[in-house]
Amino acid sequence: MIKILLNIFLLAALILGCNNIEIKKNIIPQRIILNLTEQPTTEIAVTWMTNDSVINSQIEIAESKPWLNFIDSTKLFDANSEKVITDKNKNIFFHSRIVSNLRPDTKYIYRVGGDSIWSEWNQFKTADDNLSEFSFTYFGDVQHDVKEFSSRIFREAIQTLPQSEFWLFTGDLIDRAEFDYQWQEFFDAAQFIPAIKPIVLTAGNHEYVDTLINSEEIEFLADLWKVHITQPKSDIAGLDETVFTFVYQGTRFIILNGNEKLNEQSKWLEQILNENKSKWTIISIHQPLYSMSKNRNQIKTRNAFLQVIDKYNVDLVLQGHDHVYARTYKLHNGKIVNENDKGTIYITSNSGTDSYFLESVNKNLAVKYENKLQLFQKITIDKNILNFKTYTANGELFDSFELIK
Ligand SMILES: [Fe+2]
Repeated sequence: MIKILLNIFLLAALILGCNNIEIKKNIIPQRIILNLTEQPTTEIAVTWMTNDSVINSQIEIAESKPWLNFIDSTKLFDANSEKVITDKNKNIFFHSRIVSNLRPDTKYIYRVGGDSIWSEWNQFKTADDNLSEFSFTYFGDVQHDVKEFSSRIFREAIQTLPQSEFWLFTGDLIDRAEFDYQWQEFFDAAQFIPAIKPIVLTAGNHEYVDTLINSEEIEFLADLWKVHITQPKSDIAGLDETVFTFVYQGTRFIILNGNEKLNEQSKWLEQILNENKSKWTIISIHQPLYSMSKNRNQIKTRNAFLQVIDKYNVDLVLQGHDHVYARTYKLHNGKIVNENDKGTIYITSNSGTDSYFLESVNKNLAVKYENKLQLFQKITIDKNILNFKTYTANGELFDSFELIK
């Protein structure tokens, strides 16, 4: 009898123990991602996901040190948490926090979690408040077959360009932003990289969801896109996290949303460029101003932004959407200008597996024009020199140019 009772007790303990392990497993932080804020010298935004709710969701952070004694000087910050219901009707939980009052040009170490379950410690560096040299990596559409075929491009990029300060994507990161499994594919492909390199995302058309409301087709930014990241609020109502600007070590970055409210953005862009004091200015937008593939012509984007970009001589416009590689000559008002004249270079690039045709009404504007390539780009800015390099997925240099002013 005693033996039977003992066995029942052991079985109950085992079941309870398993449940406890299961509960703990569900709150292990996943999909940890850093994003830049408008103050990259003193702030960082951190977002992560858990499969169950966390009572005390927190981030723990310190200046990094060579030894483990950084633990003596960590600070704890509470995170905001929200529940999201996925397309498979499953509850998942996102946690985020902007950490402020950081020191410029400083390496920090952090972990995320709470309720005694924590992530690994990760490290990142804040931007320098001097105008020192820096590089960043730019990716066009990733979009399809992300785990299967984009893993190699992320891994090649981190090995080829480990010194890049952040990764900028020009949109269509995945094909259906409302499907949770595709987000998992992105994090399977990128692994730990978003936890150590801040990511800047641009909203493409595949970040939007089409739906019918009262038989009218409505498009809206996918909730799952918004909860996975923490990007700056927008001066334009309804465009939070998709239209914003920041200055990184002296260079002005402007992120536009080619999907909606283009006229409002055009006015805002004019105001930003009018007040802009940076030597170099770079715009990221998904839909190219000069379309570069067959049967495409983004008249709406061009009508909204071209005049302003020409007026203020933006240096580079980084784009995606057309699934080809195209680098234009320096252009002003739709015409090719001399290298030393004022004008803008437009890049269309592609990181994914979809490739469109090289027949475009604008093909004569392109210096370099190619399809069927998975690519990533390194842009380095050092005072009066902007150096641009495009690499293939197998690490070969495909294109390069330099701007000097
Ligand atoms: Fe697109």
